Amino acid sequence: MLDLVYLYGGHVTSWKNDHGEELLFVSSKAVFKPPKAIRGGIPICFPQFSNLGSLEPHGFARNRLWAIDTDPPPFPTTTSSKTFVDLILKPSEDDLKIWPHSFEFRLRVALGPGGDLLLTSRIRNTSTDGKPFTFTFAYHTYFSVSDISEVRVEGLETLDYLDNLQNRERFTEQGDAITFESEVDKIYLSTPTKIAILDHEKKRTFVLRKDGLPDAVVWNPWDKKAKAMTDFGDDEYKHMLCVEAAAAEKPITLKPGEEWKGRQELSAVPSSYCSGQ
Ligand code: BG6
Repeated sequence: MLDLVYLYGGHVTSWKNDHGEELLFVSSKAVFKPPKAIRGGIPICFPQFSNLGSLEPHGFARNRLWAIDTDPPPFPTTTSSKTFVDLILKPSEDDLKIWPHSFEFRLRVALGPGGDLLLTSRIRNTSTDGKPFTFTFAYHTYFSVSDISEVRVEGLETLDYLDNLQNRERFTEQGDAITFESEVDKIYLSTPTKIAILDHEKKRTFVLRKDGLPDAVVWNPWDKKAKAMTDFGDDEYKHMLCVEAAAAEKPITLKPGEEWKGRQELSAVPSSYCSGQ
């Protein structure tokens, strides 16, 4: 169903299924204007994921005004969808002062035939100074879930992760699917391209497929951090989970003229259809 995409942040804030149910979480306290990013939906973290560099956390793309890209170069045949919007972000003079690299960031938001939500990012180094640049990236997707304690994530078990709550120390995930009973903030490294988020109560499974994005971040602030966030309701942590397709651990380098592509495809299916996939 129809998505809502804000030029502010190039930010998708709505994705619905055939029954009109909202599948993305957006906080009731979200603010839809500068200076902060919209709390919920799919913020774009670029050119820096989290605080892995000298820029503001998660970079500046999520709180800049993007433009409609009226003349996008041809996209590879990633989707047969006729429902899409193309956005573009180029750095302003002020952006160049904090990150001195010319780039063009083209984002296509498309709806697939089955209602899947497809995001394709293409980032090009357009500098004329001959210098490469490096960046980290994430689609910071906030999934709407009925009750976080009934949710499990499959596809990340046995992987190595960096724990943001323990000075980014490296650990290996044990056991079965991941479940939630306290704050989580982990960067899973070199994950499979398919991750499933099972919402037991709703009998719904979100399937996240990604390309060009080796890592996956899993975040839920839980009660204490929720209370500390002014743009997030105290109890809303129960109804959201961020699973973020990312290139976080190893920065991507682009030489002048080079382009990087990162793609995320989301589908929401009744849980019973998912077993055995
Ligand atoms: C996650 C990070 O991606 O985003 C967390 O791993 C962070 O550390 C969270 O707290 C939310 O970030 P922000 O800047 O949107 O409040």
